[in-house]
Amino acid sequence: MNSEKMKIAVLGGTGNIGKGMVLRLALQNLMENGVKNEVVIGSRTPEAAKEAAKEALEELENCGFDTSKIKIRGKSNSEAAKEAELIILTIRFDHVPPLLKSIREELENKILVSPVVPMVKVGSVFEYRPPAEGSAALAIRAMVPESTKVVAAFHNIAAGKLQDVVKCKAVHDSIICSEDEEAKKTVMKLTENMGCLKPLDGGSLRNANTVEALTPLLINIAKLNGLKDLGINFS
Ligand SMILES: NC(=O)c1ccc[n+]([C@@H]2O[C@H](COP(=O)([O-])OP(=O)(O)OC[C@H]3O[C@@H](n4cnc5c(N)ncnc54)[C@H](OP(=O)(O)O)[C@@H]3O)[C@@H](O)[C@H]2O)c1
Repeated sequence: MNSEKMKIAVLGGTGNIGKGMVLRLALQNLMENGVKNEVVIGSRTPEAAKEAAKEALEELENCGFDTSKIKIRGKSNSEAAKEAELIILTIRFDHVPPLLKSIREELENKILVSPVVPMVKVGSVFEYRPPAEGSAALAIRAMVPESTKVVAAFHNIAAGKLQDVVKCKAVHDSIICSEDEEAKKTVMKLTENMGCLKPLDGGSLRNANTVEALTPLLINIAKLNGLKDLGINFS
């Protein structure tokens, strides 16, 4: 797959982390290294996806970016998945099984990226609640066709930081896990091009549980210490 020219679907791209992904993926087209991402926002309602695409383009324009080289469209989740080579699943874990079942055919031979963190709020703090498979990533692996290359990524970046394409200059680490080395490389390149993330090879999908579990910890630390939108950095 040519990672410099790619059709990418962001399913649930109307939501918090999805919006940040869409903006960061679209902006890669303004880099001088010839990246050409076509971003398709997926939603349960195509109208909501189209509206989100329009808003994303307007937001980039208002921030002073030249949007003439940027392509963002909106479609239903299944139509977005059908035309994409790489699909990012930006929905909550409990909504994942029915969605993946409904788009199973569209997942054949595709890269499927999961930033999904199964967690629940207990009192005022969040707890990681992995499924029986051990992690959302491994559960997703079990739900999709054999030919789908599942990559776990983007769990530990806050939506607020991803969305803030003008002010956010921080670079956080993003640990990326997969059994498929080529798919992992493609996602690592995409991550590097986001400008606010440093991709780190996290090994196989079996390591995704540790990465997913960091997210509720980051949210709890932020809340308990009066901080916001924390990320991780290994050094
Ligand atoms: N927010 C963060 O900072 C962050 C950071 C790291 C990882 N994550 C992970 O990313 C995923 C998305 O988080 P989020 O905060 O962006 O979620 P969100 O904003 O609450 O929801 C994302 C989208 O999910 C869709 N959705 C809602 N109910 C659904 C259903 N029943 N079936 C299918 N789709 C449904 C909605 O899109 P439509 O109504 O348009 O269909 C919504 O815009 C989660 O798994 C989360 O653990 C989030």
